[in-house]
Amino acid sequence: MKLNIALLAGDGIGPEVIDQAVKVCNAVAKKFDHEISWTSAITGACAIDAVGEPYPDATHEICMAADAILFGAIGDPKYDNDPKAPVRPEQGLLLMRKKLGLFANVRPTFTFPSLIDKSPLKRERIEGTDLIILRELTGGIYFGERGRKDNGNTAFDTCTYTREEIVRLAKLGFEMAMKRSKRLCCVDKANVLESSRLWRETVQDMEKDYPEVTVSYEFVDAVAMRLVQWPSSYDVMITENLFGDILTDEASVISGSMGLMPSASIGLHTSLFEPIHGSYPQAAGKDIANPLATVLSAAMMFEDAFGLKEEAELIREVVNKSLAEGIVTEDLAGESKAYKTSEVGDWLAKNI
Ligand code: IPM
Ligand code: MN
Repeated sequence: MKLNIALLAGDGIGPEVIDQAVKVCNAVAKKFDHEISWTSAITGACAIDAVGEPYPDATHEICMAADAILFGAIGDPKYDNDPKAPVRPEQGLLLMRKKLGLFANVRPTFTFPSLIDKSPLKRERIEGTDLIILRELTGGIYFGERGRKDNGNTAFDTCTYTREEIVRLAKLGFEMAMKRSKRLCCVDKANVLESSRLWRETVQDMEKDYPEVTVSYEFVDAVAMRLVQWPSSYDVMITENLFGDILTDEASVISGSMGLMPSASIGLHTSLFEPIHGSYPQAAGKDIANPLATVLSAAMMFEDAFGLKEEAELIREVVNKSLAEGIVTEDLAGESKAYKTSEVGDWLAKNI
């Protein structure tokens, strides 16, 4: 099969972890006789430095023309402490989501048998966790009307949702639940927010189309607690943009390292695959960052964008093997030898 992939390495550790995923993908392509054509493009702080904008049109065109996008991370500390910066790297990510219509962010959370004791949570709490948070990605407070009034002394951000936006996200949730345990949890704040009441009403209306799915409705504050108390009690969860942003970071603790969790963003045009971690600037250029979240995102790409399940499974198997054999970066090494980012990538590619 011919795979036409846009490669957006981004900032910080992005290029280093992307390099490892590319090694792994190329090894998979060789083994299964696929032909990958990579097209690199800039986004984030490096794009601001180069052309003054974080998601240039040229990058958008490359993304639109590709079959899938593999993305590293964006962000640079020089913007973090400057609330007055006129243009920020994160805007690149938001623009990319909006322009590519990536309305659903799929973030699975699972445990790795060999790492279960690395989690700060007790083994008996997290064992067997296998959940998916489906986060709405192009609406809500991220994209609502915002501004200042009273000479800049009052600020507002608005959370707006249309029924249509909720339906298309919830539909994916119901379909995912049908393929899994047929349990769906709708996370909202319907006791306070009108937008949450529309979510709840809309999802309730859709229940009749999926009679086999059992839907629970839970408030986001209670979920924040139960997610770390009994994560294995959840399966597919759907939620709006900001709640999903917060809950998915929280959920990453379950697996033991943020450096492990992959994600897929899907929608109207090309799907995008990225690690859930950020650009980790303190580690940039040091060859120490954990490349597994990006490698596992590449596995999601093989399966979801190309329907190549066997290829995806092989990547996951080799990742599990590297963890079991202790071929890991310093975030996971503990007292044992820590391998470099590039060494982990080489080992994975060789073992493919
Ligand atoms: C994420 C990130 C982004 C978000 C930032 C970088 C804009 O935290 O992908 O979760 O808030 O969506
Ligand atoms: Mn986030």
